[in-house]
Amino acid sequence: MERDSVRIFLETDRLVLRRFTEDDLDNLVELDSDPEVMRYLSGGRPTPREVVRDEILPLYFRYYARFAGFGFWAAADRSTGTFLGWFELRPPEDGGVDEVELGYRLRRAAWGRGYATEGARALVHKAFAELGVRRVFATTMAVNAASRRVMEKAGLRFVRNYREDWPEPIPGAEHGEVEYALTRADWQSRLAGTTGNGGTGQRG
Ligand SMILES: CC(C)(COP(=O)(O)OP(=O)(O)OC[C@H]1O[C@@H](n2cnc3c(N)ncnc32)[C@H](O)[C@@H]1OP(=O)(O)O)[C@@H](O)C(=O)NCCC(=O)NCCS
Repeated sequence: MERDSVRIFLETDRLVLRRFTEDDLDNLVELDSDPEVMRYLSGGRPTPREVVRDEILPLYFRYYARFAGFGFWAAADRSTGTFLGWFELRPPEDGGVDEVELGYRLRRAAWGRGYATEGARALVHKAFAELGVRRVFATTMAVNAASRRVMEKAGLRFVRNYREDWPEPIPGAEHGEVEYALTRADWQSRLAGTTGNGGTGQRG
């Protein structure tokens, strides 16, 4: 099969966000095989390889085909090219790009260095500055403190706590889910009140 050339979506000081390709199968399987990474997603269970191959990668490719500038992006270390995980800026699959969901999942080796904050800020900036998005939101389990902190550091604010019925509830689910969000109007008024690049960490 012919290989895609690397399709870069954006770069920050330390990250490259690029399109996934079929060559990322092992990267994704390895990422989802770490119980700590999957703790608040599946209760620690790994994602089976065939699910990554037959459902997850095809979903990513459908997004690239359907939406310009949205979907799931592989994150790599800019200086070494090492795969670090992924970020998403996801419209509803059957809808428009008015409201999009921000998300991220990084390998444990990459945690605690500000990468999630750096990538999330760059995506929020791009969503409002270039992609015509009106509202960026993100959800997670209430007990996922790291993810909530990334949302806050990316400029999103707490909206609500809610309950979701999971077929197999995972530990912590009894505390419910949380939603955070930022509108373009609030983003713009904050930018107007600051100087510099709005803290995006984005180059160029
Ligand atoms: C959530 C995740 C992406 C954060 O990645 P990261 O690169 O380590 O995040 P950052 O380094 O940008 O840290 C962001 C903030 O979270 C804080 N933080 C990190 N881990 C934390 C934890 N376990 N508890 C509380 N705060 C935590 C950091 O201290 C930092 O805040 P600070 O600057 O005020 O100190 C990473 O933990 C991860 O991939 N987790 C598994 C997948 C997941 O849960 N994704 C979200 C699902 S919705």
